[in-house]
Amino acid sequence: MANSRNMGMPDQGFRHGPKPRAEVSRRMSKTASNVSSRQQGADTPTFLEFFAGSGLVAEGLKGRFKSVWANDVCARKRGVYVANHGQDHFILNSISDVRGDSLPKATLSWASFPCQDLSLAGVMDGIAAARSGLVWEWLRVMDEMPEKPPVLVAENVMGLVSAEGGAYYRALHEALRERGYKAGAVVLNAVRWVPQSRPRVFVIAVKKELDIKKFSDPGPNWLHPSPVVRAAVDLKDWIWWRMRMPGPRRTVLADIIEEDAPCDDTSASARNMGLIAGRHHKRLLQELANGFKVAPGYKRTRGGRQVLELRFDGVAGCLRTPEGGSSRQLLVLRKPDGKLATRLLTVRETARLMGAPGKYKIPGSYNDGYKAMGDAVAVPVARHLAAHLLLPIAEACGASHA
Ligand SMILES: C[S@@+](CC[C@H](N)C(=O)[O-])C[C@H]1O[C@@H](n2cnc3c(N)ncnc32)[C@H](O)[C@@H]1O
Repeated sequence: MANSRNMGMPDQGFRHGPKPRAEVSRRMSKTASNVSSRQQGADTPTFLEFFAGSGLVAEGLKGRFKSVWANDVCARKRGVYVANHGQDHFILNSISDVRGDSLPKATLSWASFPCQDLSLAGVMDGIAAARSGLVWEWLRVMDEMPEKPPVLVAENVMGLVSAEGGAYYRALHEALRERGYKAGAVVLNAVRWVPQSRPRVFVIAVKKELDIKKFSDPGPNWLHPSPVVRAAVDLKDWIWWRMRMPGPRRTVLADIIEEDAPCDDTSASARNMGLIAGRHHKRLLQELANGFKVAPGYKRTRGGRQVLELRFDGVAGCLRTPEGGSSRQLLVLRKPDGKLATRLLTVRETARLMGAPGKYKIPGSYNDGYKAMGDAVAVPVARHLAAHLLLPIAEACGASHA
């Protein structure tokens, strides 16, 4: 199995504790460019990317898979995608207008399909609903291809395996089986690489005839928390995928903060801090005696009252888009003058929380940038999956010479 160390690419993790920002960004860019210059060649396996959004999956797969076609319906996200990956292979249209027989042949087809109907933060209408139901359009497009890609990845929120006792996942699994695939779901939480809690489900399917012994285990492993185990009960053609665990994460939230970003004015900061819930306030006072720098939190309604709940583990909560129905994440920070203030995350901070390289371009307004990052797949997660499972599988398919 491919190994990030022998490929000259260290895991995208950082030492715990503060690390100078310039070094963090230098390491991130160096890592990405080393891989692309050494590995992107004529024999690089190809991929199609549905729901490509702002291109963070393409960023994570870069160097190991070559994107030959990408699509999204959102013009603003297209702006982010093409600013970073070029426009030659990006199609701006709805998946409903995509015909499989017009797509290039590819080894991998990746779909990060809309999560709103499966998201715990949204209205859970399920996998048959208008937005998350677009996964069926993806399968329809695959059906129309003269030769289906041998490897498929569908990515979504935990609701895909946990909601309705796993029924949504099972429906997708059966649809994959009917098309000649065997499959399994894994959960990767971006917090293993970056200071953001972001568990996501990756359904990985391969053609039934592929021998996957060296990529799988006889039962669950670290990739399979209990909702996955429950969803998998009695499923035919289920795979317990196996993959190397990343090293420990090396950054905390304080490492990705833009020191010079403007904070809310004194009265708005005081208003926000007045909402800090009782035990969180007590903890904040304790932290202040211990070199406190920053804590993220969400405003929530508890007992009919609005409160600001903070976390003190050095990790941000999951970035979400406004459509998720939740409030924006707020930071409480200690400014250089020692005073406390509040503010929203900057767009660059959201990009850092997604593991995007320092040079990743995010054109557009604050809201565009926040949404582009909040909807995406964390780069080091996609990179790890590509390096330690998808590329070895693609090689086993003989795909690097396809
Ligand atoms: C979960 S996001 C995927 C984000 C992307 N993987 C990334 O890393 O930025 C889902 C994407 O589906 C897109 N989308 C929604 N409806 C669509 C449709 N009918 N056709 C194509 N894309 C659509 C949204 O614009 C959004 O970018």
